[in-house]
Amino acid sequence: MERLPGFRDFYPEPLPHKDVWSADLRQYIFTKWREIARRYGFREYDGPPLEPLELYQLKSGDELVEQMFNFVDKGERAVSMRPEMTPTLARMIAAHERAYKKPIKWFALPQLFRYERPGKGRLREHFQFNADIIGEADVAADAELIALLIDSLRAFGLTAEDFVIRLSSRNAWQDYFSARCHDHAKAYEFFQIVDKLEREDPAKSDEKLKALGFSLEELNHFIIAGEPTPELKAILDDLAARGLGDFVKVDYHVIRGLAYYTGPVFEAFDRKGEFRAIAGGGRYDNLVKLISGDKVNLPALGFGLGDVVLFELLKARGLLPTCDSGVDVFVLIEDEELRKPSLKLIQDLRSAGMVVEYSLTPAKSDKQFKRAQELKATHTAKLEKSPGGELVAKVRNFKTREEKSGPPDGVRGLLSV
Ligand code: HAM
Repeated sequence: MERLPGFRDFYPEPLPHKDVWSADLRQYIFTKWREIARRYGFREYDGPPLEPLELYQLKSGDELVEQMFNFVDKGERAVSMRPEMTPTLARMIAAHERAYKKPIKWFALPQLFRYERPGKGRLREHFQFNADIIGEADVAADAELIALLIDSLRAFGLTAEDFVIRLSSRNAWQDYFSARCHDHAKAYEFFQIVDKLEREDPAKSDEKLKALGFSLEELNHFIIAGEPTPELKAILDDLAARGLGDFVKVDYHVIRGLAYYTGPVFEAFDRKGEFRAIAGGGRYDNLVKLISGDKVNLPALGFGLGDVVLFELLKARGLLPTCDSGVDVFVLIEDEELRKPSLKLIQDLRSAGMVVEYSLTPAKSDKQFKRAQELKATHTAKLEKSPGGELVAKVRNFKTREEKSGPPDGVRGLLSV
């Protein structure tokens, strides 16, 4: 039985096949994301992977709604697997924001589902590091969030030569639109054309723009000029003060496809332009109000950083670590008469936080030793009986080959050889 297209199997290393993903590397990525989010004072939240379809309709934009894994459940409810986390977050905030001091700084690592055509950097499920700040209208929050995004990528060894945050503004585009067109109903259609400029045939974009009373040439002038708005200037200054100026540039090609963005928006890309967007986000000051039915009005901003493109980029730059079992001690049981005291030793070491492996059933000494080698255990330990009948523990460091012996309850001390 095959897995569905665009879905992944995660296996522990060493990987059995080139078509499967590493569960160890996934854990490595998640651990880094959690570490950095906590460093910035963000707290972890989560929500349901299945939501009412309505939550996404009109809020995320047509493109995402078309990509949903939606169905009618056995209770006749129209539901969807979550294609993104932001509407869930807005719903959760709207329900209980009073219990939290503002600004609320939360992160999550949801698995998301989108019925896209699987290809480079795009699958039908992915994990996304989401970080959002709710209840702060000042651009200081936008800069803080972008700094978090930069650090979430630097944590893997990526530098300003590997990636860049392209910073833009929905406000700037809104002003551009309003100065030339008074039919506000067409703004979203216009934003969609801008969002696809880099992927679409220029003649086609021009044709679509002309239908709305714009021209590609004029648009390109505005993009190339790249004049930062006062808001963007403040964000750039804040990031420069942190020494992060090299990681950001103003680029009005970015406008974001999702419908709910309102202010500064941004996307992270690899510098060489080989991959699709690594991350995207921005301000969405009206979403909580919309989802709460006008009951709660809080400014908000956030980003989503996907695991698929990040993984591809880290692989291409040789930045993925080699993963091993992380076994600290392999306990060899060479004399079956000593299995019980060995089990006691294993249990004591595990209670002390060590990763301990051993052979569950009787096995020849060389087989046990080979297994310890395969697992790349840092040490082996074994119990022996001295001529006087005393139990003695022997600990060997695999790398230095140094062997030490002592009483069984002193094994922990011998491990730091
Ligand atoms: P998004 O731009 O749709 O934003 O997704 C963010 C990132 O998720 C993308 O840059 C990409 O790396 C990854 N991603 C998206 N779709 C796929 C896919 N089919 N396969 C693999 N990776 C994918 C959002 O989802 C917003 N909700 C982010 C946000 C949070 N805005 C505010 N707060």
